[in-house]
Amino acid sequence: MKIQKALEGASWIRKMFEEGDRLKRMYGPEKVFDFSLGNPFSEPPEEFFAELRKIAQNPIPGMCRYMVNSGYEETRRAIASMLSEETGLSFTGGEIIMSAGAAGGLNIALKSILDPGDEVIIPSPYFVEYKFYVDNHGGILKLVETREDFSLDLEAIEAAIGKQTKVILINSPHNPTGVVYSEESLIQLGEILKRKTKQYGKTICLLCDEAYKKIVYDDLKLPDVFSVYDHCISINSHSKDLSIPGERIGYVAISPLAEGKGELADAMAFSNRTLGFVNAPGLMQRLVGKLTHVSIDISEYQEKRDLLYNNLADFGYLMVKPMGAFYLFPRCPIDDDVVFVKALQVKNILTVPGRGFGKPAHIRIAYCVDRWVIENSLEGFRELAIEYGLR
Ligand SMILES: Cc1ncc(COP(=O)(O)O)c(C=O)c1O
Repeated sequence: MKIQKALEGASWIRKMFEEGDRLKRMYGPEKVFDFSLGNPFSEPPEEFFAELRKIAQNPIPGMCRYMVNSGYEETRRAIASMLSEETGLSFTGGEIIMSAGAAGGLNIALKSILDPGDEVIIPSPYFVEYKFYVDNHGGILKLVETREDFSLDLEAIEAAIGKQTKVILINSPHNPTGVVYSEESLIQLGEILKRKTKQYGKTICLLCDEAYKKIVYDDLKLPDVFSVYDHCISINSHSKDLSIPGERIGYVAISPLAEGKGELADAMAFSNRTLGFVNAPGLMQRLVGKLTHVSIDISEYQEKRDLLYNNLADFGYLMVKPMGAFYLFPRCPIDDDVVFVKALQVKNILTVPGRGFGKPAHIRIAYCVDRWVIENSLEGFRELAIEYGLR
């Protein structure tokens, strides 16, 4: 019954997916411009296939057996060494737990941290799966609206923190807005968490979903979340930076400065096992351990961002210019985002209503698609801009 309800709630995204299928059969796939899903268009980098060939040609004895639940020591050490280089902190393999993507990582982290009834504060709009992940582990979701430019509303966050607050979950670069939180705002958030931890005598965890960590534009440097607050955990994924979402690989990194980090790591390894992941896929662990400094070509995403953003801005759409990830989140010319999504659908353009992310009157456009999809959709966006009086 509960899942039935959840399915009904998520039905708009499902509907768009099914609608895309129907339109593609009716008009041919080249006539449908599907921006509904965050499924990367690009193939994994050549280095990924080179490592795959290497291991296929020289299999390691025992490489397909069970392993410790947190993953291969060698992979975790490689990731720890990359993070030490990036942050100046001394990470060891003990602070890294390999996970089944960011989704698996978020679930093992929340399972390990939350007691039933604990609150998780999430800035909204937000990645809608969070709602289910928090509920999976008995947590209570507390949404806090962001500012108009989707930056963190620090006063509102501070006001929302109470004695039941256990976690604040942020996501930067952000799905669905493309925003990257500034270093200044993260430093202030860290200060708030230190103050509130003292006030309530209980440590609040800063959980950072960094699934799009390597997808940032215009040479922007992603602020280091570990430097703003000690009790910080970063969730990472290779779904987007290596374009391998179907392979389910990512990792959780616990700050070397976090209180009780050893117990937390043990709890997450235990949760990996007891939630039924057991461990992250072994073959993928072997590969990503060799690819810590590799990623898909980010400039391709940036070109697509520019093509879409510049044209939509010309047509009169209002939106924040994405700084990372591969989503654009324009305001609709009317308040009813579902009506506007349907109007786009008539032009064979598939997007998702903002209400699916807690923000009505917006649409999410996932531009992780081939360039022709963007180019051929522009006329439809332009026609609707005129129809709805944007120009
Ligand atoms: C913000 C965010 N977090 C987590 C995930 C889950 O990613 P993964 O495939 O690594 O589980 C996604 C997927 O789109 C996402 O957008």
